Amino acid sequence: MKKGALPLLIRLFAITLLILMSLPAAAQEPVEDMPPPARCINLGNMLEAPNEGAWGLRVREEWLQMIADAGFDSVRIPISWTTHSDPQPPYTIDEAFFERIDEVIGWALDANLQAIINIHHFNEIMTSPEANRERLLALWRQIAERYQDYPDALIFEALNEPNSELSTQIWNDYQLDVLDVIRQSNPERRIVIGAGNWNSLWEIYKLELPEDRDNLIVTFHNYAPFEFTHQGADWVNGSDAWPGRKWPEESDESSMENDLRLAGGLQEQLGVPLLMGEFGAYSKADLDSRVRFTRAMVENAEANGIGWCYWEFASGFGIYNPNTRQFNELYTALIP
Ligand code: BGC
Repeated sequence: MKKGALPLLIRLFAITLLILMSLPAAAQEPVEDMPPPARCINLGNMLEAPNEGAWGLRVREEWLQMIADAGFDSVRIPISWTTHSDPQPPYTIDEAFFERIDEVIGWALDANLQAIINIHHFNEIMTSPEANRERLLALWRQIAERYQDYPDALIFEALNEPNSELSTQIWNDYQLDVLDVIRQSNPERRIVIGAGNWNSLWEIYKLELPEDRDNLIVTFHNYAPFEFTHQGADWVNGSDAWPGRKWPEESDESSMENDLRLAGGLQEQLGVPLLMGEFGAYSKADLDSRVRFTRAMVENAEANGIGWCYWEFASGFGIYNPNTRQFNELYTALIP
């Protein structure tokens, strides 16, 4: 070996190592360097059905890369855990269901998407909060422990749309417990929380946030005006009187502007990112109105620095037709 060759080799090795270490590695990126979800799509009507497929859709692997290629940075994955776990203590979650969730999260992360997983359709806690408090915590203990070593791109959302008996006041207590339980195994995990009355923007001021607000995101859902977005929706009482409602009418545009400006102000005041975690208009409204509504919502959210997550990908509010494999005009309204 030539004189001087070895130190040179060592130097080259050290330089290569330094370069490798400075490359972004998704799994090790500090959470503070990861932007909050900005352009997100809900994989609705899939894993939050009582059983995946019961509402017509199962998550397909190819969709995740396609969603990333289409310009989204995140997916929200609503999940029905209560129909896949023991209803009695210790509320054990089915292993086969967990494995399916592992798979879907894996597809999202492989596509370089951030993935928000939540507890969706936990109906029992809405009508009988106290009787279901331990169950909520037991579910989170299991979910949090399972995913504790997952990359920072995985985000937990405490509970979809607290409503009915689970008022913001009662929920305040519970969500602090949820945060504690999650923090025991995931001290740095980003966690999404929202207020009662179906994640109302108007109740965020009642929400008690913990002292430590690092890695917290506050969500709200925005379906106003409801008689437009939910016209003809068979799960909403009275909605059969609304078909024909167009957008915009009267003060629709200024109301939307005001709401999103309020959200932008709250975001500054609270010092945590706000996420408009659901918005959208159901297929019974005319498509032109839906496109105008969707475009206006995105423009207002982005003008106020609010990340958004459209409801939803491929069902009644959908931006994508899984049969023709085509995006529709709602997609272009989201991402022109
Ligand atoms: C519910 C869905 C519903 C959507 C719009 C979601 O939070 O879980 O079932 O389709 O809101 O109403």
